Amino acid sequence: MAVRKILLGVTGGIAAYKSAELVRLLKKAGHEVRVVMTRGAEAFVTPLTFQALSGEPVRTSLLDPEAEAGMGHIELAKWADQVVVAPASADFIARLAQGMADDLLTTVCCATEAPIAVAPAMNQAMWSNLRTQRNIHLLGEDPQITLWGPDQGEQACGDNGPGRMLEPAVIVRMLEGMSSGGLAGKRVVITAGPTREPIDPVRYISNHSSGKMGYALAVAARNAGATVVLVSGPVTLAAPAGIDIRHVVSADDMLKASSQAVDEGCDLFVATAAVADYRPENCASDKIKKSSEVMSLPLVRNPDTLATIAGRSDAPFTVGFAAETSDVAHYAKDKMQRKNLRMIVANDVSAPGLGFNSDNNAVTVFWADGQETIGPDSKQIIAQRLVTLIGDHLKQG
Ligand code: PMT
Repeated sequence: MAVRKILLGVTGGIAAYKSAELVRLLKKAGHEVRVVMTRGAEAFVTPLTFQALSGEPVRTSLLDPEAEAGMGHIELAKWADQVVVAPASADFIARLAQGMADDLLTTVCCATEAPIAVAPAMNQAMWSNLRTQRNIHLLGEDPQITLWGPDQGEQACGDNGPGRMLEPAVIVRMLEGMSSGGLAGKRVVITAGPTREPIDPVRYISNHSSGKMGYALAVAARNAGATVVLVSGPVTLAAPAGIDIRHVVSADDMLKASSQAVDEGCDLFVATAAVADYRPENCASDKIKKSSEVMSLPLVRNPDTLATIAGRSDAPFTVGFAAETSDVAHYAKDKMQRKNLRMIVANDVSAPGLGFNSDNNAVTVFWADGQETIGPDSKQIIAQRLVTLIGDHLKQG
């Protein structure tokens, strides 16, 4: 990875002790690191710790005449080519989301043009709180900001749930993925989420796809320099910034929207969507009444978006996903051949806590003469590694 100038913001939380290890790993990877601490962070770790590890003076105050006489806050903001805030407390996230500049770290975040990665760390109830989630949605809409995590699991307070800071080694790997730039100048179309096939005006057939894998892939492709169109089935995720999102409902809609996006120009097409294979033959115009004990619903095959795009005479480099519960490699390779794909990402969705509607995944990618297993890991990490791998194959033609 190229040497980078990383400004690490440390805010007040017990995970601040992990940031010392983060500095050590970043230095070991050859990066220049400068640390800015909030007042809350100083209650958990001393500036001296970060100074010793980074080899640079640590900044803690906006209005410090001595420090401002050296590298002032604007110079600091210009110096960084990447800002990472880890841990990012609920309070810091709220202030960042509102664009406040009431301490050195928020001021630097306002003044910098560098990308800002935010690794939240807080109690699970604070993370799930409506107001925190509203702020997280705001950050998600900011093209300069990427959210890393949080992780799930046991917390310092004894609770269990989402809110743990990503491990320092994971944050370093996220940085590696961000700097790959492997899709610079490429036009990428990604499908994500489920489809809904209407039965009557109030009911539909669908599945458990949350869209998380596809959205993470879209963000990773955007971060790697691509122009991204995301064709999304109905999900509850915030629209990621800097991505052209096209909302669809049914498999028919997904084919139409994807074909149109590919017509507009596409180097790479990736289908992560869990498209319903069948739809009701007829959609009743009125709500179906329960009149008999048993009811049958004739279903007809849906169009296959992935196979249609891969079968075009001007087909882009096309990558499919395969969600399987048994004999994963066999079925995935068969799909790759039948659908005429360049690569396929096989997803064993039988493992608990992975695949559908979870934050984590584990995949094996197959191509004509090779394969690579990625994970188990967060969908964000999986997405970054997939983008790097697919980008390498795309370059080879
Ligand atoms: O959304 P998440 O909760 O994050 O979960 C992610 C995921 C498990 C949905 C994802 O990682 C995944 O495995 N996606 C593929 C799901 C699937 O249903 O695969 P399939 O084996 O049915 O289809 C194979 C491929 O053909 C897929 O790329 C699919 O998008 C595509 N397809 C299938 C049918 C169809 N009518 N049109 C298609 O484009």
